[in-house]
Amino acid sequence: MSTKQAKVWIYAKEFKGDVELSNFELKDEEIGDIKDGEFLAEALFLSVDPYVRTFQLQYPTGSVMTGRQIARVIESRNSKFPVNSLIFGNLGWRTLTAVNPENYPKKHDLFILPDLGDLSPSISLGALGNPGNSAYYGFLDLCKPKEGEVVVVSAAAGAVGTIVGQIAKIKGCQVIGFAGSDEKCKMLEQDFGFDKAINYKNENVEKLLKEAAPNGIDCYFDNVGGMLSTIVIDQMRNFGRISICGAITGYNDQTIMVPAFKSFHRNNLRMEGFMNYRWINEWMEEGMFQMLKWIQEGKIKCQETVTEGFENMPQAFIGIFSGKNFGKAIVKV
Ligand SMILES: NC(=O)c1ccc[n+]([C@@H]2O[C@H](COP(=O)([O-])OP(=O)(O)OC[C@H]3O[C@@H](n4cnc5c(N)ncnc54)[C@H](OP(=O)(O)O)[C@@H]3O)[C@@H](O)[C@H]2O)c1
Repeated sequence: MSTKQAKVWIYAKEFKGDVELSNFELKDEEIGDIKDGEFLAEALFLSVDPYVRTFQLQYPTGSVMTGRQIARVIESRNSKFPVNSLIFGNLGWRTLTAVNPENYPKKHDLFILPDLGDLSPSISLGALGNPGNSAYYGFLDLCKPKEGEVVVVSAAAGAVGTIVGQIAKIKGCQVIGFAGSDEKCKMLEQDFGFDKAINYKNENVEKLLKEAAPNGIDCYFDNVGGMLSTIVIDQMRNFGRISICGAITGYNDQTIMVPAFKSFHRNNLRMEGFMNYRWINEWMEEGMFQMLKWIQEGKIKCQETVTEGFENMPQAFIGIFSGKNFGKAIVKV
């Protein structure tokens, strides 16, 4: 029998308030010979995502941190996952995993990547994965944008926001994004074609939004919730549509988010929340390939912030909540 050493990040202390390094513990784990039907996956890229801040709370401390990864099959006793295949797996924050596919009955939790040509496989964690498909379906299905309409996106420089803005441009909309630094705003306007980007941290959001969209806003794709969203919703036009993707303002800080109900009533607005898995069948059959096509045609750019080193996963995760990432936050092993 041969053993291999995996490194694994453990959820060591319950999340309360801001995430801290002390919430995590790095452990070694011995992995023995794989059994019939199994394969051994070596992580190449791991995803850190805001949802993990709330999702992880359902698990006891001592469990492995939740997360998706792109891995290479380095040993296999399963003909469907031959050695050298690149896979997407919902395997957690681990460097090596003995995978029995029977434990992953849902197709979207474990699959072999499609041929991505020269593109980095890490985009399967971003534009082709959960964030990209949240953008694709959450925006197109719920906001139903029409050419010439005004679209506002919060957390616009993040994994989901950068894609929503670019899809809105493909659809011929005027796009306004919020981001937390001048550098991010510059990136959105210069590299991603946003018509206007507003630094919500140090600008008069209400005033600048009114100037950028004097006739009001048709679609709001919300990633943040809280006061910023109240300001946006207050400036929406009659029959505006709001897609609630996330509420990151409230993940570390559990205080109540301020709704703008008076605007709903006044302007006949429609707001709908979503969990991207409601489109999972479409995304595996269509969304992923439409995104890939747009990327290959140069219509969608994939921005990533790559943190080097598995040992830095907690720092990369914590960085999301202070806006350190431009586009998708990825960890390279
Ligand atoms: N519904 C779904 O199925 C689904 C799927 C994927 C993601 N989501 C949600 O969508 C949102 C964006 O996800 P993502 O993957 O794009 O995130 P991300 O790339 O990790 O970016 C998060 C960004 O949010 C901003 N942010 C952080 N804390 C904030 C705060 N307190 N107030 C305002 N902005 C804050 C930061 O940018 P700044 O520097 O601009 O502040 C940060 O870079 C999250 O709320 C996430 O939970 C939902």
